[in-house]
Amino acid sequence: MRKPRRLTADELAPYQLDLPAASPHRPPEPDAPAPEFLDWAALFGNNHPVEIEVGFGKGLFLVSTASAHPDRNYFGIEIVRKYQLYAATRIAVRGLPNAKTACANAKAVLTRYVRPGSVADVHVYFPDPWWKTRHKKRLLFTPEFAASVLTVLAPGGTLHFVSDVADYFEWVTGTLAAIPQFHRLPPPPEKPPEHDMDYLTNFERKFRKEGRPIYRADYEKRDPV
Ligand SMILES: C[S@@+](CC[C@H](N)C(=O)[O-])C[C@H]1O[C@@H](n2cnc3c(N)ncnc32)[C@H](O)[C@@H]1O
Repeated sequence: MRKPRRLTADELAPYQLDLPAASPHRPPEPDAPAPEFLDWAALFGNNHPVEIEVGFGKGLFLVSTASAHPDRNYFGIEIVRKYQLYAATRIAVRGLPNAKTACANAKAVLTRYVRPGSVADVHVYFPDPWWKTRHKKRLLFTPEFAASVLTVLAPGGTLHFVSDVADYFEWVTGTLAAIPQFHRLPPPPEKPPEHDMDYLTNFERKFRKEGRPIYRADYEKRDPV
């Protein structure tokens, strides 16, 4: 992926959303009122289904999927500002009205800003495993995070999870197996790339080129049987 050209703040503004109560840089004010849930129809200007990507990095998935599916809306959450800027620039250069980004902690966004049952799909691709004890608080995929994903998904909505770390994959799938509303779906077929950017994400591109194994699991939100 080539480095995108620098855009002005005004050019980027339609693709970047400020969510102060989920800021990774400012702790929430103790007495601040709870923020209102995001109004997807107002944000995107239509009632198309909304998909969320958590930790979009350089944004390959957001850009390619928003280009391929103009009838769906994509909301990306990324905790690192420079990646938000990078991906928002790529989205703005293509003028994709159905993709927006926030620089925020996804755990706080899901609990504070996303209306329960309002999301069609949640994508979590190659989250950092953070095994070291001193980094554990940065771990994304905790049981609480899994519960938040379940809450924001609409009935029939899907969680898509991919990792290159076998132990982490097993730990996450074990966590999800304990939640009866998550019904594991058969894995999607892996197809050979048709061009150099025909990968799910930037990390998938890197790891598949290195020949590393990749583990995938999709879950549909269903009523428990
Ligand atoms: C290993 S990278 C994968 C990036 C991208 N999904 C890909 O596959 O190319 C993990 C990303 O998740 C982001 N991240 C980690 N914790 C997060 C959180 N709590 N909220 C939002 N993003 C987070 C990191 O900043 C990083 O960009």
